[in-house]
Parts: sequence; structure tokens; C-alpha cells
Amino acid sequence: MNLALYEAALERISGLFGEDATGHDVHHTLRVYRMAMRLAEAEGADRELAGLAAMLHDADDPKLFDSGDGLPNARAFMKEQRIAPARAEAVCTIISEVSFSKNGAKRPSTIEGMVVQDADRLDAIGAIGIARTFAFGGHRGQAIHDPNRTSGTSIAHFHEKLLKLKDLMNTDEARRIAEERHRFMEAFLLEFREEWDGTR
Ligand code: ADP
Ligand code: NI
Repeated sequence: MNLALYEAALERISGLFGEDATGHDVHHTLRVYRMAMRLAEAEGADRELAGLAAMLHDADDPKLFDSGDGLPNARAFMKEQRIAPARAEAVCTIISEVSFSKNGAKRPSTIEGMVVQDADRLDAIGAIGIARTFAFGGHRGQAIHDPNRTSGTSIAHFHEKLLKLKDLMNTDEARRIAEERHRFMEAFLLEFREEWDGTR
């Protein structure tokens, strides 16, 4: 997307997220944007559609905003920026297909949706994913780990969701990146367990 549009989007999401510390800060969105551009390049996807969807993908997240299903923040921004209605609609479709909680393992219907979903999921794994998990867990007041529990702790979240993400990638480039990040998480979990058990 052109620089003016990027800067307007950056200003809007900075205003929307403020100082959020739950893992949905503006830096998450910018990482998703940069990764989406890298994947879009590799896949020959429409970079403006993927870029707008990446920049706006959490702008109506129900955990942060009382937006309902209509994506009002994303739509308002695109209207102000005079994005053609059909393209704005395409961006909204991408955004609604990206969410894990809403769509689970269902694949997005377009290549742009696939790259944005992959970019969002890649930001949940690897070193950044580990950091976000404990930040989110702390924000929620949940324990780091409890050997007697398989849910409701940050370590449990790795098994419930994060270790599954590499097999859910849509594109080849994302799969390659995910495999490396996955190995890093496994090494982290092994080290964590050995330190916990006192065997290291
Ligand atoms: P996004 O909307 O960007 O896809 P989510 O809202 O699902 O991400 O989660 C934000 C971050 O918090 C992610 O890194 C995710 O893995 C992490 N997270 C989500 N649920 C939990 C949980 N129950 N415990 C720890 N971390 C979590
Ligand atoms: Ni996100």
C-alpha cells in the first residue's frame, strides 16, 4: 500500500490499541503486516488487500472492542480513505476469515486471507509467541504452569493451541517459518520442564 495509507492506518491503530498489554498492541499488528507483505510477495497475492486486512485485523477484536460482527472500526477507516467499496468488502471478508476462535481450522477463501491468517498465526509462535503467551496469561491472572492442569495456564496454552499451529499454515513460505519457530518452542518447553523438575 502507499506510504500515506500506511501512515494513516498506523495512526488509527495506534489510537485504537493505545497502551494495550494483552498482546494486541500496535507492534503485533505491524509484525503481522510485515509478515503478510513477505508472504504476499511469495504467493503473488494482492498486497494492498492483504496489507489493509493485516493492519486492520484486530481493529474490531471482541476482546478489546465492543464492535459486534460488522467490523465498524475497519469499515470507518477504509471509508475515510476512500477505498473502493468492493475492495473494502474484500478486506472485511479477509478479516472475518482470519480469526482462530471464529473459524478454527477452516481455510480462508482467498490467497490474501491465507497470507494474513498465516502472518497472524506466525506471530503466536516462536520467541515472540512465547513472550505474548506469558504476557497474556499474566494479564488474565493465570498461572505460568501447574503440572496437574492441562488448561488454564500459560504452559497449557502451548499444548492446547500453539503447538498445533504449524500444521495449520496455508502457504509454503509460512510453513517453513513455522517449522523453525515450532522447534524453538519445543526446545523452550523441554528446558522449562527440566528446570521445573530439577533435572537441569
Ligand atoms: P490474535 O487475535 O492476534 O490471533 P489472540 O487474541 O488469540 O491472538 O491471543 C493473543 C495472544 O495471547 C496470542 O499470542 C495467544 O497465543 C495468547 N493467548 C491466547 N489465549 C491464551 C491463554 N489462554 N493463555 C496464554 N496465552 C494466550
Ligand atoms: Ni492478531
